[in-house]
Amino acid sequence: MHLKELKLTNFKNYQEVRLDFQSKINVLVGKNGSGKTNLLDAIHYLSLTRSAFCADNFVIRLGEQFFFVKGLFQTGKNLEEISCSLQSGSKKVFKEGVNEYGKLSDHVGKYPVVLIAPDDTELVKEGSEERRKFFDSIIAQLDRQYLEALIQYNYALKQRNSLLKIFAETNSFDAVALESYDQLLIKSGDVIFRKRKEFISEFIPVFQKYYSFIVADEVALLEYKTELDRTGLEAGLTSNRQRDLYLQRTNFGIHRDDFHFILGGGELKKLGSQGQQKSFIIALKLAQFEILKNHKGFKPILLLDDIFDKLDDARIAKLLDLIKRDELGQLFITDARPDRTRELLEHINVSATIFTVEKGQITKI
Ligand SMILES: Nc1ncnc2c1ncn2[C@@H]1O[C@H](COP(=O)(O)OP(=O)(O)OP(=O)(O)O)[C@@H](O)[C@H]1O
Ligand SMILES: [Mg+2]
Repeated sequence: MHLKELKLTNFKNYQEVRLDFQSKINVLVGKNGSGKTNLLDAIHYLSLTRSAFCADNFVIRLGEQFFFVKGLFQTGKNLEEISCSLQSGSKKVFKEGVNEYGKLSDHVGKYPVVLIAPDDTELVKEGSEERRKFFDSIIAQLDRQYLEALIQYNYALKQRNSLLKIFAETNSFDAVALESYDQLLIKSGDVIFRKRKEFISEFIPVFQKYYSFIVADEVALLEYKTELDRTGLEAGLTSNRQRDLYLQRTNFGIHRDDFHFILGGGELKKLGSQGQQKSFIIALKLAQFEILKNHKGFKPILLLDDIFDKLDDARIAKLLDLIKRDELGQLFITDARPDRTRELLEHINVSATIFTVEKGQITKI
């Protein structure tokens, strides 16, 4: 699968751009702030129906009222046009060909992309939400039922928390209303719990393979941590009810799950060096790539943002090794230093199409 053509109107700092890409390596070079990451984000948007970095309102070019993005994807013999338009204040319109999707979740997973931004250590440093989002996004691309369960769970959780607040504010209690949300949480939460467990056991060996490929002599571990291992969701909700009423929020469930990153027996966040954290993230993303590839039967698009700037030579050499061995599919690589990328790619003897980005204008060179 690859992206052949991309058209942007009022997408972030781009007023109007149309580009043709090649099926292997596309490089975007340009000064800081010129729009390289924004272009990767447009591809991310077409794949996942949202920006990797910001809410929809910030995607519309400043001073404008709408944005439009369109991509032509080649999958085997099929050429499919995916487009999205968003008028400020209205619902976004996402289409495959001329057909508008009823639910955005129907699109997610059809044209998978993996974004590697190695400086982005939020996944390691931030709270559990970032890690849940990472794994949720992968599983959702593989499994429609998972995504639907997640949407349902988040909806029920929000409603239940509002209800708990209303009880406190009005000094009231309605067991029937609370239990109806409990039932929704149990139904969707059990699906999520089961599928997270299944997924992580498939993911771990692939992740470990890539971690030891990048860093030869270290063993990295990944663990799924959930309260549901000890207590079922129904029993947990019941035994936490008094606490929930007191704290006015739901204190038990899969929204409290975490994924622990462990290196050399210790927690990566606390003990890992910057380099180790970056390696960990790259291994997670490469594992994401391979798992998506195995399930879909074709290679996802890989977006490599600023990797040559942010990684040391040893890690760059490993990534170049994968490129050279043709294990990756279509690649988009950004770099603020044109000569560096060109030299690195020439060194491994692969040809790339290079685009220069300048203040929202792009030219092929
Ligand atoms: N909605 C928007 N409207 C107009 N401009 C925007 C919008 N969102 C972001 N920008 C602008 O896009 C520019 C950043 O683009 P981007 O992050 O793609 O740069 P970059 O080429 O990746 O830079 P770097 O090399 O520093 O990573 C900023 O100048 C920012 O102000
Ligand atoms: Mg950037």
